[in-house]
Amino acid sequence: MKKITINSIDEMKDFGNKIGNLFKGSETICLYGDLGAGKTHLTKFIGEGMGIRDYITSPTFSILNIYEGTINLNHFDLYRLENQGDFDDFGFDEYLFSEDVNIIEWPERIRDYLPKDIIEIKIEKTSENSRTLLISTTNPEKFDYILEMI
Ligand SMILES: Nc1ncnc2c1ncn2[C@@H]1O[C@H](COP(=O)(O)OP(=O)(O)O)[C@@H](O)[C@H]1O
Ligand SMILES: [Mg+2]
Repeated sequence: MKKITINSIDEMKDFGNKIGNLFKGSETICLYGDLGAGKTHLTKFIGEGMGIRDYITSPTFSILNIYEGTINLNHFDLYRLENQGDFDDFGFDEYLFSEDVNIIEWPERIRDYLPKDIIEIKIEKTSENSRTLLISTTNPEKFDYILEMI
Protein backbone atom coordinates (compact mmCIF):
# COMPACT_ATOMS: atom_id res chain seq x y z
CA MET A 1 0.00 0.00 0.00
CA LYS A 2 1.37 3.40 -0.98
CA LYS A 3 0.13 6.61 0.49
CA ILE A 4 0.49 9.85 -1.44
CA THR A 5 -0.42 13.33 -0.29
CA ILE A 6 -1.84 15.65 -2.93
CA ASN A 7 -2.05 19.32 -1.97
CA SER A 8 -3.72 20.88 -5.00
CA ILE A 9 -5.55 20.14 -8.22
CA ASP A 10 -2.25 20.77 -10.07
CA GLU A 11 -0.56 18.04 -8.06
CA MET A 12 -3.46 15.71 -8.89
CA LYS A 13 -2.97 16.58 -12.55
CA ASP A 14 0.77 15.81 -12.35
CA PHE A 15 0.04 12.48 -10.67
CA GLY A 16 -2.68 11.49 -13.17
CA ASN A 17 -0.63 12.57 -16.21
CA LYS A 18 2.37 10.61 -14.95
CA ILE A 19 0.57 7.31 -14.41
CA GLY A 20 -1.52 7.66 -17.59
CA ASN A 21 1.73 7.97 -19.50
CA LEU A 22 2.91 4.61 -18.10
CA PHE A 23 -0.09 2.61 -19.25
CA LYS A 24 0.38 -0.02 -21.96
CA GLY A 25 -3.20 -1.39 -22.15
CA SER A 26 -5.08 -4.03 -20.15
CA GLU A 27 -4.84 -2.02 -16.93
CA THR A 28 -7.90 -1.65 -14.71
CA ILE A 29 -7.92 1.14 -12.17
CA CYS A 30 -10.63 1.12 -9.51
CA LEU A 31 -11.28 4.52 -7.99
CA TYR A 32 -12.87 4.57 -4.55
CA GLY A 33 -14.01 7.68 -2.72
CA ASP A 34 -17.06 9.75 -1.87
CA LEU A 35 -18.84 12.12 -4.26
CA GLY A 36 -16.53 15.08 -4.80
CA ALA A 37 -13.39 13.16 -3.84
CA GLY A 38 -11.92 13.73 -7.29
CA LYS A 39 -12.43 10.42 -9.11
CA THR A 40 -13.60 12.04 -12.34
CA HIS A 41 -10.83 14.64 -12.25
CA LEU A 42 -8.22 11.96 -11.74
CA THR A 43 -9.71 10.00 -14.67
CA LYS A 44 -9.44 13.10 -16.86
CA PHE A 45 -5.79 13.61 -15.87
CA ILE A 46 -4.94 9.95 -16.49
CA GLY A 47 -6.62 10.23 -19.92
CA GLU A 48 -4.48 13.29 -20.71
CA GLY A 49 -1.38 11.29 -19.76
CA MET A 50 -2.48 8.53 -22.16
CA GLY A 51 -2.69 11.12 -24.92
CA ILE A 52 -6.50 11.05 -25.17
CA ARG A 53 -7.57 14.21 -26.94
CA ASP A 54 -11.27 14.24 -26.10
CA TYR A 55 -12.47 16.16 -23.09
CA ILE A 56 -13.17 13.65 -20.34
CA THR A 57 -16.10 14.52 -18.16
CA SER A 58 -18.49 12.91 -15.74
CA PRO A 59 -20.62 10.35 -17.60
CA THR A 60 -23.72 11.52 -15.73
CA PHE A 61 -26.34 9.61 -17.67
CA SER A 62 -24.25 6.78 -18.97
CA ILE A 63 -22.48 3.95 -17.26
CA LEU A 64 -19.64 3.84 -19.77
CA ASN A 65 -17.87 6.46 -21.87
CA ILE A 66 -15.33 5.23 -24.39
CA TYR A 67 -12.47 7.49 -25.45
CA GLU A 68 -10.44 6.44 -28.45
CA GLY A 69 -6.70 6.85 -28.51
CA THR A 70 -3.54 4.89 -29.19
CA ILE A 71 -4.91 2.86 -26.30
CA ASN A 72 -8.66 3.22 -25.71
CA LEU A 73 -9.90 4.41 -22.35
CA ASN A 74 -13.13 2.94 -20.97
CA HIS A 75 -14.44 5.19 -18.24
CA PHE A 76 -17.09 3.49 -16.11
CA ASP A 77 -19.18 5.39 -13.59
CA LEU A 78 -21.28 2.79 -11.81
CA TYR A 79 -22.97 5.16 -9.37
CA ARG A 80 -26.32 4.56 -11.03
CA LEU A 81 -25.93 0.84 -11.66
CA GLU A 82 -28.72 -0.75 -9.67
CA ASN A 83 -27.89 -4.43 -9.88
CA GLN A 84 -24.56 -6.09 -10.29
CA GLY A 85 -26.16 -8.47 -12.82
CA ASP A 86 -27.08 -5.56 -15.11
CA PHE A 87 -23.41 -5.07 -15.79
CA ASP A 88 -22.92 -8.12 -17.96
CA ASP A 89 -26.56 -8.22 -19.11
CA PHE A 90 -25.82 -4.89 -20.83
CA GLY A 91 -22.54 -6.19 -22.24
CA PHE A 92 -20.20 -3.90 -20.32
CA ASP A 93 -18.02 -6.85 -19.31
CA GLU A 94 -16.88 -7.13 -22.94
CA TYR A 95 -15.15 -3.77 -22.55
CA LEU A 96 -13.77 -4.54 -19.12
CA PHE A 97 -12.06 -7.72 -20.30
CA SER A 98 -10.33 -6.17 -23.30
CA GLU A 99 -6.90 -4.71 -23.95
CA ASP A 100 -8.10 -1.21 -23.22
CA VAL A 101 -7.44 0.80 -20.10
CA ASN A 102 -10.41 0.73 -17.72
CA ILE A 103 -11.04 3.31 -15.05
CA ILE A 104 -13.97 2.51 -12.79
CA GLU A 105 -15.73 4.92 -10.43
CA TRP A 106 -17.85 3.14 -7.80
CA PRO A 107 -16.27 -0.30 -8.43
CA GLU A 108 -18.01 -1.49 -5.24
CA ARG A 109 -21.11 -1.85 -7.44
CA ILE A 110 -19.59 -4.79 -9.37
CA ARG A 111 -17.49 -6.36 -6.66
CA ASP A 112 -18.01 -9.91 -8.01
CA TYR A 113 -17.31 -8.97 -11.63
CA LEU A 114 -14.03 -7.09 -11.25
CA PRO A 115 -11.00 -8.47 -13.07
CA LYS A 116 -8.56 -10.26 -10.81
CA ASP A 117 -5.60 -7.98 -11.60
CA ILE A 118 -6.47 -4.44 -10.64
CA ILE A 119 -4.95 -1.27 -9.26
CA GLU A 120 -7.01 0.31 -6.50
CA ILE A 121 -6.83 3.98 -5.62
CA LYS A 122 -8.80 5.28 -2.69
CA ILE A 123 -9.16 9.06 -2.66
CA GLU A 124 -9.79 10.76 0.66
CA LYS A 125 -10.64 14.45 0.80
CA THR A 126 -8.58 16.02 3.59
CA SER A 127 -9.41 19.67 2.85
CA GLU A 128 -10.94 21.69 0.03
CA ASN A 129 -7.93 21.11 -2.25
CA SER A 130 -5.98 18.33 -0.55
CA ARG A 131 -6.40 14.62 -1.02
CA THR A 132 -4.76 11.49 0.31
CA LEU A 133 -4.37 8.67 -2.20
CA LEU A 134 -4.09 5.11 -0.94
CA ILE A 135 -2.80 2.92 -3.73
CA SER A 136 -2.73 -0.86 -3.76
CA THR A 137 -2.87 -3.69 -6.25
CA THR A 138 -3.91 -7.32 -6.35
CA ASN A 139 -0.85 -8.11 -8.52
CA PRO A 140 2.30 -6.17 -7.55
CA GLU A 141 4.51 -8.06 -10.04
CA LYS A 142 2.27 -7.34 -13.00
CA PHE A 143 1.97 -3.62 -12.20
CA ASP A 144 5.57 -3.13 -11.16
CA TYR A 145 6.21 -0.62 -14.02
CA ILE A 146 3.55 1.65 -12.53
CA LEU A 147 4.13 1.14 -8.82
CA GLU A 148 7.85 1.79 -8.97
CA MET A 149 7.20 5.18 -10.57
CA ILE A 150 4.84 6.52 -7.93
N1 LIG B 1 -6.57 18.05 -5.39
C1 LIG B 1 -7.74 17.84 -5.99
N2 LIG B 1 -7.93 16.74 -6.74
C2 LIG B 1 -9.13 16.50 -7.33
N3 LIG B 1 -10.19 17.33 -7.27
C3 LIG B 1 -10.06 18.46 -6.54
C4 LIG B 1 -8.83 18.76 -5.88
N4 LIG B 1 -8.97 19.95 -5.23
C5 LIG B 1 -10.21 20.36 -5.49
N5 LIG B 1 -10.88 19.50 -6.28
C6 LIG B 1 -12.28 19.66 -6.71
O1 LIG B 1 -13.04 18.58 -6.18
C7 LIG B 1 -14.07 18.22 -7.09
C8 LIG B 1 -13.92 16.76 -7.48
O2 LIG B 1 -15.01 16.43 -8.29
P1 LIG B 1 -15.06 15.08 -9.14
O3 LIG B 1 -13.77 14.82 -9.80
O4 LIG B 1 -16.28 15.16 -10.00
O5 LIG B 1 -15.30 14.02 -7.94
P2 LIG B 1 -15.97 12.57 -7.98
O6 LIG B 1 -15.87 12.05 -9.38
O7 LIG B 1 -15.13 11.78 -7.00
O8 LIG B 1 -17.37 12.72 -7.49
C9 LIG B 1 -13.95 19.14 -8.29
O9 LIG B 1 -14.83 20.24 -8.11
C10 LIG B 1 -12.50 19.59 -8.22
O10 LIG B 1 -12.28 20.86 -8.80
MG1 LIG C 1 -17.32 11.22 -10.65
